[in-house]
This record gives sequence, structure tokens and C-alpha cells, in this order.
Amino acid sequence: MTTPPVRSNPLRDPRDRRLPRIAGPSGMVLFGVTGDLSRKKIMPAIYDLANRGLLPPGFSLTGFARRDWADQDFAQIVHDSVKAHARTEFREEVWRQLAEGFRFVPGDFDDDQAFERLRRTIEELDEVRGTGGNHAFYLAIPPGFFADVVGQLQEHGLTEGRGDSWRRVVVEKPFGHDLASAQRLNAVLAEVFPSGSIFRIDHYLGKETVQNILALRFANAMFEPIWNSNYVDHVQITMAEDIGIGGRAGYYDGIGAARDVIQNHLLQLLALVAMEEPTSFDAASLRIEKQKVLASVVLPRRLDLTTARGQYAAGWAGGEEVIGFLEEEGIKRTSTTETYAAVRLDVDTRRWAGVPFYLRTGKRLGRRVTEVAVVFKRAPHLPFAASSTEELTQNALVIRVQPDEGVTMRFGSKVPGTQMEIRDVNMDFVYGGAFTESSPEAYERLILDVLLGDPPLFPRHEEVELSWRILDPILDHWARQDEQRKGKPEQYPSGGWGPESADAMLARDGRVWRRP
Ligand code: BG6
Repeated sequence: MTTPPVRSNPLRDPRDRRLPRIAGPSGMVLFGVTGDLSRKKIMPAIYDLANRGLLPPGFSLTGFARRDWADQDFAQIVHDSVKAHARTEFREEVWRQLAEGFRFVPGDFDDDQAFERLRRTIEELDEVRGTGGNHAFYLAIPPGFFADVVGQLQEHGLTEGRGDSWRRVVVEKPFGHDLASAQRLNAVLAEVFPSGSIFRIDHYLGKETVQNILALRFANAMFEPIWNSNYVDHVQITMAEDIGIGGRAGYYDGIGAARDVIQNHLLQLLALVAMEEPTSFDAASLRIEKQKVLASVVLPRRLDLTTARGQYAAGWAGGEEVIGFLEEEGIKRTSTTETYAAVRLDVDTRRWAGVPFYLRTGKRLGRRVTEVAVVFKRAPHLPFAASSTEELTQNALVIRVQPDEGVTMRFGSKVPGTQMEIRDVNMDFVYGGAFTESSPEAYERLILDVLLGDPPLFPRHEEVELSWRILDPILDHWARQDEQRKGKPEQYPSGGWGPESADAMLARDGRVWRRP
């Protein structure tokens, strides 16, 4: 048989995508410089990008905060964060060049003079660092302040570049706490920035292994034919964390696991696993397909039987005794905020009819692991004695998002010996073994994409809305249970695998959660 020639599509982007993508002249203004996100993720990622030669030589980072700091104090903060959290090695010459572009503007969000100083700082940077009028405003601050900041940026003429130069805004979740608040938040941003200039970060989309879901599905011939309800029994998407809420009580209480993680990261994973092939990987085509999936998600009727929630109780984590969620500092003793959530969703399309998607996430679980497991139906017929296949379960393809990134295929194999005994075995692809280059951090990829104006990895507002439409009824159901005292989050021991109600939820469907 001859192989058909590989045809190229003339409509596709002719650029060679293997060439390094280097940002053009630009700068970034960071609001929220004292927060965890800035110190642990954003600042180190900027250094890592500089170290990899992906930032322009005159790149500038301006911090804005209510602190009485000079530029050098800000530089020291960035220095400490880079030393503690950067992925790549510290190189003095890279650091020195980068640090020359650091500025700090002290001020409150309602301080007109501070925003006037910010405007002058940006103009100065355009002149001395050659940032070309191109600036991204990164709002690493609680969404309650978005309106103040973007209002000030607009008032001080900072939201529109001159000529060909660009201005962009970068926002972090939570994008609201329900559909209505998400719509209000979007209105605040959309009033000032055109939709193409708003970059919403869902850092899971910046992870290599998450992007690999698309490569696995659409670059290969052998997975797609079985990627449907004829062969797939169900899908399990797990994001388990071993940490507790740490110092984030203020953020977490009243938010909880479903809003914190399911609304964004896990529904985005579901969309990538379930979507149809996009016509190309540009932002518009990709987002259309993700949107179609999110719009097709339906909730089962009995939410009391198809959702589960819990709170971690005292227990063990990493060999240490730890306290329960309700004992954490800053958490109300009567809090009903869930630290574990599991839901069953159905995707109402021909491809997925009858295939449940089970999503779960929790803090203080046995191990930190994120994975997508596509679990296949049993073979329609087994020509073996029943005793030969007692230890054979269902075939599965597991995309290991983190840690230990890779893909595992589980299938049955004969146990060596004189008898026919068949047992599950795993075949592993491990990133670290197949590639010499280590994966960049999600924030490196996403910050670079902001500077390049490359939007495919950023969810658009419609996706955010659709995600809230899925989650709101579940959150309402839990709130009603609380109000009517008909239920509350079940306590589960730290270091375990979540509440018993989550196991019961799957058992009712004749299934079990994987123990990664
Ligand atoms: C964040 C959540 O979005 O993701 C945190 O707000 C969570 O609660 C974090 O700990 C986990 O991210 P990662 O990349 O470590 O899986």
C-alpha cells in the first residue's frame, strides 16, 4: 500500500514554528508585586524567559504597589524571588541586564498622582529602553480592584498605544464567583480594552502536558478512532494536591475547590479531551471547539447523588501531623467551604453519549497528582477461563499532567508461566526520558504569549461564562443543602483520598476512582 503524500494547507501559517519565538520591544507593569503569585510564578518566569534569550534586550518590568520603595528595593524583591523560584540557573550577566529595566511606582489604586507617575515612567522606558510603546498590564490582584485599576489606566491615557504600538491587560482567576459576577467583571474589562487585548490566564493551559493532549489526539492515527462512546467507558480527571490552604485563608474561605479549580483548570482539561478536531490551532478555531464542548455539558438530574464535597480533617501529610481545615488560621469554625469536590458531568454529543466525565479535586490528599484517565470498555468477549482474567481491569490511557509528566497505557498481558493468567500492565512514555530539554514553566509560556500577542492558550470570556453555567447549579445545590441543614462537606482525613461520599458516588455507577 502506498502512503498518500503529505499535503500542506496553503491557508495555514507559513512561519516555521520550530524557530524560537522572541518577544519584540515591550514592557510589563505588574500590579500585586507583594503577592504569592508574583513572587513564586511571575517574577521567576520573567527571569527564565530572559535567561532563555526570549525577551527583547530592553524589556522593562515596572512594579506598582502601596509600598514606600525605590527601584532598588523592588529589584531586591525580584532578585530574592528569582533566586528562590526560577527554573533555570542564575546568571549574573542576564540578571544585570534585566534589572536595568526595573522600575517601581509607589501608590494606591485610587491615587491619581501615582498613575500619572506610572504614565511618565512608561514614557521614560519607551525612550531609554526602547520599549516602543508596547506594554502589558498584569493585574495579579484580587478582582475587586480590577475596576479601579483599569479605570485609572484609561483615565491616564495608558490603555491605548500610539500608532502600531499595543496595550494589553492580563488577568488571573477567579473570573467572578458565579455567572453574574463573571459577566460584571468582564464588562469592567471590556469597557476599556478590546477583547483581543484581554488575556485571561488559566495556567493549566500553559503546561506542556496539557498542550500535549492536542498533540496526542490530533497528530496520531491510533487514538482518535477509539476516542468516543463506542470504546470509552468513562473519563476521570483528577487534580489532587497534598498541600492544605497554606496562608490563603482569606482567598479560599467562601471560594472552595469547585470555584478554585473545577470552574477553570478541570473544565478546560475536559474541553481539550472532549472537543472535535479544530480546523487549525489558531485561537479562533480552538476556542470555537472548546466552547462547543462546554455548551454541550449537561448535569445529571440528581445532584445529591452525582456530586460530593468534603473538608480535610487533621491527619498526616509528608510524614508530618497536620491540622484540619476548620482549625486553619483565618477559617471560620462554621465554614462550609469545600476543600474537595467531585462532580459527574455528561457531554451531550454523539461522540460522548452515555460516557460520564468524573472530575475531582482536593487539598491534603495522599499525593500531588494531576491526570486525565480515559478508561475503555471491557473487551466484548474474553475467550479465557474466568479465573485467567480475574486481575484484568479495563484498558486505560492516562495522560499524566504532573508530576512525572507523560502518558501511560494500561492493558492486559499474559503473566509469564505455564498457565494463561492475564493481568494489567503499564506502558509508559516519560517526558524526561524521551526529551533532553526540561519543560518550561506554564507561566513562561503564557507571559511570552502575552508579549507576542498570541492568544490560543487564553480562555475567552464565552468559555468562562459557559463554565459558570455548568458550575452554578452545583454551587446553588450545595448552598441550599447548607441553608436547609440537609448536608455539609464531609470530613476526610488529611493524607487520604477524599470523602467516602465521593467513592459512593462512583460506586452507584458501578465504577471506582483511580488511586494514582
Ligand atoms: C491554582 C489554585 O489555580 O492552582 C491553587 O488556585 C492550586 O489552589 C494551584 O494550589 C495548583 O497549581 P499547580 O500548577 O501546582 O497544579
